[in-house]
Amino acid sequence: VQGLDDTTVVVAGAATGIGAATAARLAAEGARVVVGDRNVAGAEHTAGVIREQGGEALAVGFDIGDEASVDALFTRAEEVYGAVDRVHANAAAFPPRKLGGDTDLLDIDLGVFDFTVQVNLRGHILVTRRALPNLIARQGAIVYTSSAAAFTASDSRPAYVIAKNGLHGLVRHVAARWGRDGVRANAIAPGFVLTELMKGVDSDGTLAQLALDKSCSPRVGRPEDIAGAVAFLMSDDAEWINGQVISVDGGMVLR
Ligand SMILES: NC(=O)c1ccc[n+]([C@@H]2O[C@H](COP(=O)([O-])OP(=O)(O)OC[C@H]3O[C@@H](n4cnc5c(N)ncnc54)[C@H](O)[C@@H]3O)[C@@H](O)[C@H]2O)c1
Repeated sequence: VQGLDDTTVVVAGAATGIGAATAARLAAEGARVVVGDRNVAGAEHTAGVIREQGGEALAVGFDIGDEASVDALFTRAEEVYGAVDRVHANAAAFPPRKLGGDTDLLDIDLGVFDFTVQVNLRGHILVTRRALPNLIARQGAIVYTSSAAAFTASDSRPAYVIAKNGLHGLVRHVAARWGRDGVRANAIAPGFVLTELMKGVDSDGTLAQLALDKSCSPRVGRPEDIAGAVAFLMSDDAEWINGQVISVDGGMVLR
């Protein structure tokens, strides 16, 4: 993709899975990558792999649910690299859909609901508020990770699904308010992506098979599929794409 060389990108939630793959892809495109995550050891690992491959990366521990911590992440990025050109807001908490987790609207513990929204939606709002002055100054771009679950009816996971739908409103607000200043905001809605976490959750492959049955692809997703789409949306190739939620899901959601 074009235009990522010599830029600074913050990936918020990059210790494992999709965020780690995005960080690696952006570094391969020539970006300096700030690898932010609550999982500090994981962030160090992601940054270490990038450096081993000749890329530039800095690991920073942070909690997306905490405003002071989000501020510290960006302050560190600014101190080390001067300014931030692009952001991938990717972190999410996954309360289990059973066992007192993200069950259904009558059953869910409101503490679980509040925590999910705090991390998966409010945290992304905090990242956006802190990033915006940079993005306005640098004609930058932000890409959020939503989910195919945001488009489909589900009898469980209301907190997760409601928070992801909130991101769609956030994308449209940022594009509508700052698009004419050169800021772009878009989201990716992944389908079933076989991350390490998913391999653990779905050890017998039941969820993967369900996802395959619903999709228009011979395979489930790889973290690299999402990383490629994020890199594209951040790049100059996507200069005229703004305020969109793009499905990258093997054709699971057809619109
Ligand atoms: N894997 C899938 O099938 C799939 C499908 C649709 C959407 N998604 C979305 O993709 C994104 C990445 O998920 P993933 O599948 O790679 O899982 P993952 O658990 O590997 O990645 C999530 C990352 O966010 C970090 N994180 C969690 N809470 C945090 C906090 N409070 N502060 C900072 N970092 C925090 C985790 O440590 C982890 O590194 C999420 O937004 C998820 O909702 C994933």
